[in-house]
Amino acid sequence: MEKNIKFPVIDLSKLNGEERDQTMALIDDACQNWGFFELLNHGIPYDLMDNIERMTKEHYKKFMEQKFKEMLRSKGLDTLETEVEDIDWESTFFLHHLPQTNLYDIPNMSDEYRTAMKDFGKRLENLAEELLDLLCENLGLEKGYLKKVFRGTKGPTFGTKVSNYPPCPNPEMIKGLRAHTDAGGLILLFQDDKVSGLQLLKDGDWVDVPPLKHSIVINLGDQLEVITNGKYKSVMHRVMTQKEGNRMSIASFYNPGSDAEISPAQSLVDKESEYPSFVFDDYMKLYSGVKFQPKEPRFEAMKNAAVTTDVNPVATVETF
Ligand code: OGA
Ligand code: NI
Repeated sequence: MEKNIKFPVIDLSKLNGEERDQTMALIDDACQNWGFFELLNHGIPYDLMDNIERMTKEHYKKFMEQKFKEMLRSKGLDTLETEVEDIDWESTFFLHHLPQTNLYDIPNMSDEYRTAMKDFGKRLENLAEELLDLLCENLGLEKGYLKKVFRGTKGPTFGTKVSNYPPCPNPEMIKGLRAHTDAGGLILLFQDDKVSGLQLLKDGDWVDVPPLKHSIVINLGDQLEVITNGKYKSVMHRVMTQKEGNRMSIASFYNPGSDAEISPAQSLVDKESEYPSFVFDDYMKLYSGVKFQPKEPRFEAMKNAAVTTDVNPVATVETF
């Protein structure tokens, strides 16, 4: 309980006033010690967020819920007596924005929903790029450094995972989403403001990421840990299932382009870096099979070769 109180909540509008330095320091501290923070007054209109939330919940009820229930039945997940560790209790679909959009290929989205998602995606992309520059400033890297690294030759990859975590009769038997670190760059999450469930691992304890109306939760992926030479960390997180309530979560992933070359920034390396250098796509090929395993063996594997067989792929999942 006590720990939730300290979870970093940052008012981004304070960057424009007298409290700029303190706010920058809060962001730096969150990046170093939490890997997560929650933003208010981030510039994304709250009425757009309300519309997205309403339409996402309607879309789930109309087009996803029945399918999810059938999946539960067919996999025997509706009556669990032992813990399940190879599947997640979530209903999802994926929107790709960059380098190419798939927004018009997704079935069952109303024009209004598509338009709102396009607008929301663009605003999140801008926010991600603004944040990357704030990180550069805190890290003493030149403005635009991170954006440039992420660009590769084709521009960054940007996508949104739209999820619902429906109520679960046996929360102790299955996770909404198993513990993992995110592979990519910066993740921007619009989560349900009532139903909780997201937790991060801090100093050995699972800590709730508190639901907060109209906030955007930010977390850092493995690539930022590598580029910052470990100054910033990608942190393990998971989603717990709940007996009551359907948790909405819209997670957007601002990632390097497939051919972006990732390596620790020279100015952040003293002697020799512990971190590998690689092409982002090679990292993703490895990650998709070992998402739910610790990141350290991934970094080791990338160091030793291109993709090696050091780590055991368990399953291939769609990941950003
Ligand atoms: C993810 C993730 C959290 C959430 O998709 O990688 O961590 O709350 N999602 O949905
Ligand atoms: Ni994640």
